[in-house]
Amino acid sequence: MTGRISREFIDELLVRVDIVDLIDSRVPLKKTGSNYVARCPFHTEKSPSFSVNRSKQFFHCFGCGASGNSISFLMDFGHLSFVEAVEDLAAFAGVSVRMDSNGKELQKPAGQSLGNLYLLMEQVANYYVEELRKNAGAIDYLKSRQVKGEIARDFMLGYAPDKWGGVANQFDQKLLVEAGLVVVKDDGKVYDRFRNRIMYPIRDKRSRIVGFGGRVLDDSLPKYLNSPETSLFHKGKEVYGLYELLAKNPKPQRILIVEGYMDVIALAQYGINYSVAALGTATSQAHLDLLFRFTSEIVFCFDGDKAGREAAWKVMEAAFSSLKDGRSCRIMLLPEQHDPDSLIRNEGVDSFVDRVTSAQVLSDYFYEQIASGLNLNEMEARAQLIAKVKPYIEKLQESAFKEMMSARLKELSGVKKVAALENNQVTIGMATRKPNTQEINRLSSSRVAVALLLQKPELAYLLEKQEIDWTGIEFRGVELFKNIQRLILDKKIVNSAVLLEYYRDLPEEKAVKALAVLDVHVEEDQVDDVFFDALNGLLKQAREAGILRLQAKAQNEGLNSEEQDLLVAMLVGK
Ligand code: UTP
Ligand code: MN
Repeated sequence: MTGRISREFIDELLVRVDIVDLIDSRVPLKKTGSNYVARCPFHTEKSPSFSVNRSKQFFHCFGCGASGNSISFLMDFGHLSFVEAVEDLAAFAGVSVRMDSNGKELQKPAGQSLGNLYLLMEQVANYYVEELRKNAGAIDYLKSRQVKGEIARDFMLGYAPDKWGGVANQFDQKLLVEAGLVVVKDDGKVYDRFRNRIMYPIRDKRSRIVGFGGRVLDDSLPKYLNSPETSLFHKGKEVYGLYELLAKNPKPQRILIVEGYMDVIALAQYGINYSVAALGTATSQAHLDLLFRFTSEIVFCFDGDKAGREAAWKVMEAAFSSLKDGRSCRIMLLPEQHDPDSLIRNEGVDSFVDRVTSAQVLSDYFYEQIASGLNLNEMEARAQLIAKVKPYIEKLQESAFKEMMSARLKELSGVKKVAALENNQVTIGMATRKPNTQEINRLSSSRVAVALLLQKPELAYLLEKQEIDWTGIEFRGVELFKNIQRLILDKKIVNSAVLLEYYRDLPEEKAVKALAVLDVHVEEDQVDDVFFDALNGLLKQAREAGILRLQAKAQNEGLNSEEQDLLVAMLVGK
C-alpha cells in the first residue's frame, strides 16, 4: 500500500460501518435497553460489563475500562496496527482503502512494501526447512537435544547452511537487506547473516514470520543470533511461540514466560503448550499487554540464581503497570543450574506443572522480597518499607487489587493512613490546596459540557447559533471544548466515533475517551437543556470572575486598553 490513508475515507468508514454489527460478528452481543452488551473480550469476567452504543458508535467496558470506536476495537481485539485495522474495517464494509493523493502522483513508499517482505520471510523460512532436511549434522544436533520431528514441524525449525550466499544469491537482495537477513559489507556486497545455525522463525500472532533466531551447533559464540529490528520485527513487542501457542489453544488459562527458544520447544514437546519466550530482552509492558489479551494469568519463569532474581525484580515494574482486576501474575523461580528445558527433562512433566500452578503470586513475592532484610519491629524499617512500596502501588490502576496492596502495606507498616495512597482520585493541578465547593461544581459543569458535546456532536450546531463571545472566557477544559466544537463544524462530524478518531495518539486522547463514556445521567430528551445549562453556568462564572479580577486591577494599577476592551466585552456578554 502506498501513501497515507485518506482522512475523509476514515471518517466515511466510521459512519458506514455500524459498530454493533462489527463487534457482533466477533463477540455476540445482546440487546439491553439502548445498549448492546457482552462479556468483555479484553478481560475475564463472569457477568457482562462490556457495552456497545449505537448512536455514539462506541464501545466501553465498565470492568476494565477499555473503550473506543470500530478501529480501536479491531486494533485491540485482533492485536492489529492502526493501518491493519483500517484495512480490516474496509474489508468488513466491502470497500477498498482510499489513499491520499494530494492531487499529485502517489508517493513511493519509503521502504519495500510489507506484503513483499512477509512473502520473502516465508520463502526464506521454507528454504531453511529444506536445508535442514539435507544436513545430517543439523538433524543430529536437534536429535541430541531430543527435538521430535513433529515439534520441529510445528515450530518450522530450519537450518541456515554454512554459506555466505545461501539466501543472498537466491532472493531479491533489496528485500533481504530490508528484512535483515543479510549484512551489507563495505564493498557493497551482501552476505548471509545466518550461517551454520539452527533457525527458529519468529511468527507474530497472525502467523506471519517477522524475524528469526539462529543457534550455533556447538559452543561457539554468539550462541544465538537474532534478526535485527526491521520494519517487521520489534523485539520489545513480539514474543517467541505465541502463534504456535494460540494454534493449539486460543484461550489458554495461563501463559508461562520463559527465557529461551529451546525452553518453549522442550515444554511444547511435553505437552505444555502455553509458554512463550521474550526475545533476549526483558519482558516489556507491551509484551504483557499483548499476552493479557489472550489469558488472565501470566507466570514468569526465572532461573533461581541471583541474575534470575534480579530479572524477576525488574519485571515487576512492567507487571505493576498492567495489573488490574481479573489479571494475575506469578513468579516461578527454578532450582539453580536449571532452565525449563533441562528441568522438565530431569523431573518430568507432573512436577514441572506443580511448580507452575504453585508459583508464588506477584503480591506475595513482592512483599516478601521488599521486606526481606528489614526488621519491621523498628520504626525506621517500617518507614523504609513504605517509601519502597509506595512508587509501585502508585503505578497500579484503580482496582480492588490496588486497595488490597495498600491494605497489606498498612498492615505490615502498622501505619493506618499512608499519604498518597489515600484518595487516589484526580488531584491533577491541585497540588497545593484543596478546591472549594464552587470550584468542584465548576469542574463538574465543564466535564458535563465537554462530555455531552462529545457524546452528541449535533450540539455544536445549536451552539454555533448562540454566537457566544469567547473573549477572556476561561474555565477548565475550555480549549478542548472549543477545539471539539470547531472539529465537529469543520469536518461535519456526525458521531462520537468519528470525533474520537481525531484524537487518536494525541495527549488529549485519554481525557476525551473518558468523557465520551462518562455517564452524565441525563434522559435523552433532556440532553440539550442540561448541556446549555452547564455551559451558560460556566460562561457566567467565568465572566464574573474575569470582571472581578479586572475591576480589582483597575482600582490598584489601572488597565491597559486591551484589558479595558476585555472588561467591556465581559460586561456586555453578561
Ligand atoms: P541462554 O544462554 O539461557 O540459552 O539464553 P538457552 O535458551 O538455554 O539456549 P540453549 O538451551 O543453550 O539452546 C536464553 C535466551 O537468551 C537469548 C536467546 O533468546 C536465548 O534463548 N540469547 C542468548 C541471545 O539472544 N543471544 C545469545 O548469545 C544468548
Ligand atoms: Mn537451555
